[in-house]
Amino acid sequence: MKIAVVGGGSTYTPELIDGFARLRDALPVAELVLIDPAAERLELIGALARRIFARQGHPGRITWTADLDAGLDGADAVLLQLRVGGQAARNQDETWPLECGCVGQETTGAGGLAKALRTVPVVLDIAERVRRRCPDAWIVDFTNPVGIVTRALLSHGHKAVGLCNVAIGFQRKFAKLLGVAPERVELEHIGLNHLTWERAVRVDGTDVLPTLLARHGDALADDVRMPRALLDHLGVVPSYYLRYYYQHDAVVKELRTKPSRAAEVAAIERQLLDLYADPHLAEKPELLSRRGGAYYSEAAVALTSSLLGGGTAGDVQIVNTLNHGTLPFLPDDAVIEVPAAVDSRGASPLPLRPLAPLFAGLVANVTAYEHLALEAALKGGRDRVFSALLAHPLIGQIDYADRLADELIAHNREHLTWA
Ligand code: G6P
Ligand code: MN
Repeated sequence: MKIAVVGGGSTYTPELIDGFARLRDALPVAELVLIDPAAERLELIGALARRIFARQGHPGRITWTADLDAGLDGADAVLLQLRVGGQAARNQDETWPLECGCVGQETTGAGGLAKALRTVPVVLDIAERVRRRCPDAWIVDFTNPVGIVTRALLSHGHKAVGLCNVAIGFQRKFAKLLGVAPERVELEHIGLNHLTWERAVRVDGTDVLPTLLARHGDALADDVRMPRALLDHLGVVPSYYLRYYYQHDAVVKELRTKPSRAAEVAAIERQLLDLYADPHLAEKPELLSRRGGAYYSEAAVALTSSLLGGGTAGDVQIVNTLNHGTLPFLPDDAVIEVPAAVDSRGASPLPLRPLAPLFAGLVANVTAYEHLALEAALKGGRDRVFSALLAHPLIGQIDYADRLADELIAHNREHLTWA
């Protein structure tokens, strides 16, 4: 089996390689090709990837190339983990919205819209090449904003599933608190990418969320950086991305007092690249755990394995896929993040109990925003950018939407063909 990783020169890649190496029974990779335009970085990451495979006795072949088409040839699955404009563009997304009093974040609010506008055309171009070079391949998208990017891929008829590590992170966290193996923990994880709540936590079929909240509420609240009282009130565990909604103004204040996450990540990346250059290093370094990608390799291996027909019958994973009536108040073509049965035909969401108005309102609102964001990304134009911003629950006022539309376009001109 051949796997292609687009954005393979990312400093995250050793996490992925480590997962492929450890979990080779689930996903027997014969060839792994790392594809990236950044030649020097790719060389460094590729060499480390080979050392990790060798150390763990993995027989698979690792290659790398800047030639996308050549890299895709014959692939069975294509993983997308790219960042158009790199950390420099992310730094902008996290900065100019703050000056308008709005949250500056890479996937939420105006910054997330900017990232979507830069990313969707690039990802669709890659997907067209996938269609030509390896038409049967599954695309697994980690590229943010995952909800909008996955919707773009699916609306263009590509074989794609979107993946994020928030759900697997919760599964591992809960398993540890409960003292059980992670595979026994099933989440009722519901919402949109980076807008989700854990509504039930089942161990062998019994919902233990009330017990978890009663016994470990403080630790869980710390983890998602929201007040314990909120978790008790909601009776669910929101992902930490809900902070940007439930505590928007407080978060803006906080973000204004410290360097951007992009700046922090850029510093970590410089150190990581120094470590990766050491020819004796043959494992992912501890420092990588200071990035946000925990467990993403495990989620990727499980999903890819199921999509390539290697999963067990009735295999359920939490992914981004088409709604198709699962949340009846959303359009069928919305992309939701929920538990789904996954096999070689793709992902089908499991039926869900109705979503309470307290959560459904926000989900409906952000889904409408995502629709408009995708329109803006596909067709361009300041009016479309303005509409998406006006529809966003964290923006919504004409003065903000006007200012942010201008800022977004001014800061992203080099990446927007229409601007
Ligand atoms: C989490 C999110 C990812 C995001 C990452 C950022 O893992 O689920 O979607 O890319 O955090 O981590 P970073 O180290 O780049 O801030
Ligand atoms: Mn994510």
